Formats: sequence, structure tokens, C-alpha cells
Amino acid sequence: MSKTYWVETYGCQMNLSDGELMEGVLASGGYTQVSRPEDADVILVNTCAIREHAEQRVLGRVAELNRVKRARPGTLIGVCGCMAQRLGARLIERAEHVDMVIGPDAYRSLPQLIDQAAQNGGGVVDIELRSSENYEGLELRRRSQVSAWIPIQRGCDYRCTFCIVPRTRGSEKNRVPEAVLREIEELAGEGITEFVLLGQTVNSYRYDDWDFPRLLRAVARLPAVRRVRFTSPHPNDLTRELVDAMAEEDAVCPQMHLPVQSGSDRVLKRMARRYTREEYIGKVSMLREAIPNIALSTDIIVGFPGEDERDFESTLDLVRAVRYDDAFTFRYSPREGTPSTRMQEDWCVPEHVAQGRLERLIALVREIAAEKNLAEVGNLVEVLVEKRARRGELLQARTDRYKVVLIPGLQEWIGRYMKVALTGTSGATFTGFPVES
Ligand code: SAH
Ligand code: F3S
Repeated sequence: MSKTYWVETYGCQMNLSDGELMEGVLASGGYTQVSRPEDADVILVNTCAIREHAEQRVLGRVAELNRVKRARPGTLIGVCGCMAQRLGARLIERAEHVDMVIGPDAYRSLPQLIDQAAQNGGGVVDIELRSSENYEGLELRRRSQVSAWIPIQRGCDYRCTFCIVPRTRGSEKNRVPEAVLREIEELAGEGITEFVLLGQTVNSYRYDDWDFPRLLRAVARLPAVRRVRFTSPHPNDLTRELVDAMAEEDAVCPQMHLPVQSGSDRVLKRMARRYTREEYIGKVSMLREAIPNIALSTDIIVGFPGEDERDFESTLDLVRAVRYDDAFTFRYSPREGTPSTRMQEDWCVPEHVAQGRLERLIALVREIAAEKNLAEVGNLVEVLVEKRARRGELLQARTDRYKVVLIPGLQEWIGRYMKVALTGTSGATFTGFPVES
């Protein structure tokens, strides 16, 4: 009888894609997926280390899974991904029911690591960062038949002072462009029409004489590719060539997630983001001139060490100036070993102050998003139907500008492009109704 696995993933899109990679490796190793952890011989938790809160959640979940293990002796529990990389063997000391600690560059040998853990009764740690591992040649186990994540880059060469990613995922590694294009063609052959190119600073992609705009154009021109997105670009690598590629290639969606982090030059400098507020706003203007209807979202951190009320007001000002369609907002979380933790000793922002700022920021972001979305009600848009909505009988669909639209419809519409009228908005998402096209 073949062995069974359960993989659960926390964190960013890159991590979700890594989850598909891990499942692909396990499937090729003869493992079968089960629909709940209680039935699995191997349970892998694919973790995120970006903020303290993300790690606490995972630790709680791993403790819960230990109960599954006690009820089913012999089950192996592995903690994988960024938190595994960050904590290494310390994880096993902290939670002794963890049998394996596996970093993001060790997934190719998952079956061997599992065998090793089974033989030795746990105690397996592989957190080597392998500068040549970009997982070429491995088949991912795709969860969606509609849209596919395509990692084109792993790791990060920036060193933002708050960020743990360069430590957990190592330096930037880019995939061979021909392999990326071949993979997309194969998936398109299976009926997938939307592709999301992934990388920590995806637009810094470079391979021989290929740069990101060239790769983006090549993907957009593949027959059967209807939509291409990418995430997340770094503002410094946002060039005129990239904007032109987006404006000129029909398949590239008019949408971008462009992390800003702060609207204050003093804070940006201490974050080592390598751009000023004005330069960022300049990039936004360049985008909007070329692609007037582009939808923009961002990431913002409040309470970074030394952020005072004036700095925070500058961030609010920037949000008012750019008028984002959406923003992910975070309270600064000190990560051991990152340079910002040394600034913290002098300039720590008290928790209640940071919390207050976060709430004000969220209120502003929501207000602007709701105003913008309300103005779109009544429009006719094309959506790609993605899946059943979480609740009720509705389907979840998305516009090219990445807006979620819930529509009534049939299961077999999943994967189709349809014209819908936007009938209402919750402020964040839309309801819509299919119309004849
Ligand atoms: N370049 C990556 C960023 C990954 S981290 C990408 O965009 O794909 C995602 C977001 O988490 C960051 O943009 C930042 O806003 C937030 N973040 C990272 N480290 C943080 C920390 N120590 N505290 C709070 N938020 C953080
Ligand atoms: Fe992190 Fe900055 Fe890279 S946010 S992932 S170090 S671009």
C-alpha cells in the first residue's frame, strides 16, 4: 500500500506555489494525498516567518497536529519553509513531536528525508541553502485548472532592514527562460489560460540577455495565454521597458502590487528600500500615464523603529495621493537577526501607538477602496470564473484588474471568460450578473 501525505501551507503566494512543489515531489515519490491530516502517514506544514504572529499561529497548529500523531503512532510531522529555515534544530527542541525540519531548498529530497526520519525516529534537519537549486525539471501538483503560479525567481538580493526573507530563502536565483516558457505552454495545453509569474522582486529577473520585460512579453505572446500577472515587483526595478511591455501586450493584466512600505523618506532610508517617496510616486505616474485604468495595491508597515507621528502622516498622505485599490497593512514585527532590531533599542514605537496607527491606516485604505469600487458599479467587465465561492451557491470570478466578483452560475462555467455587469460592492468585492456577450 502506498504511503499517504497531507500538506498545509501558510503565507505568501510563493509559499502556496512551494506547497504545490512539495506535493509534486511526494506524488512522484509514490505518495498519495489524503483529504485530512488524520489519515496521513506524513504531515508537512509549510510555514511563514515574516512576522512573529505568523510563527505563533503555526506553532499552535503544530501542537494541534501532535494530537493527530498521538492518536496514530508512526505519523511523521515535518515543519517546512521559512520558519524551518529560520529556527532549524531549535524547532525540535521547542516542539519535540516535530520529526523533520526542512528548509525551502531541500524539497527535491523530501522522500529521502522522510525515509530517514522513519528509520531514525525523527531528528531530521535539512536547512542548507543551495544556491543552485531552482527546482528545474520538477512537476508541481497544480491545485487550480484555471490559473497557475509560475515561480521564475527564488530568494532575494535586496536587504530591507526589517525583512527575514533574504535569510530564509537566500540570494536571488532565476530560472532559465526557455524552461519557464515551456512549462507555461504545457499548462496552456491542459486548458489553463491565466499565469502569475512569481518572485520576491520578480521584475529584477535576469538570465543571460533576458530581463523581465522580455520574459513578460514572451509569455504574453504565447498562443492560448489570455492573462498574465506578476508579483511582487520592486519599485526600483520598475522601468520604462516594463511599463511599455505592460501597455503594449494585450495579455498583461492592468494590475500591479507595488509594495511601498512607508511614505516617509526618513523611514524608507532606514528600511533600506533604496527609493524616495518622490521616486515611488514618479513610478506610479509613469504607470498611470501608460495604463490609465491600472489597479494598484501595496504593502505598508507601521511602527517601524523611529517612525514618529509626522512620518506616519506622510504615509497617510501618500495613500491619499496614490489612491490604492487595496493595501496589505502590517505592524512592524522585529525579526531576530535583521538590522532593524538594532535600531529598535533606541527607537521602539510603543505597541499601542503602532496599533492606533494601523487602525487609522486601515480605515483610510478601506474608505478609498470603497469609493473607487462604488464608482465601478454598473460597469460591464470581463471576468474569468475561478471556483465556487466559499459560501453559498455563488461562483468566484476575477476581472483583469484583479477585482473579485461573485456571480450566480453553474459549476461548468469554471475556467470560462464571461461578460458580467457589476451590480453591487461590499466595498472590497463585487457582486455581478452575467450578460450576453
Ligand atoms: N518582496 C516580497 C516581500 C515579501 S514580505 C514580495 O513582495 O513578494 C511581504 C510583506 O510583508 C512586505 O512587503 C512587508 O510589507 C511585510 N513585512 C516584511 N517583514 C516584516 C516585518 N518584519 N514586520 C512587518 N511586516 C513585514
Ligand atoms: Fe524582503 Fe525587501 Fe527582499 S521586503 S523579500 S528584503 S525586497
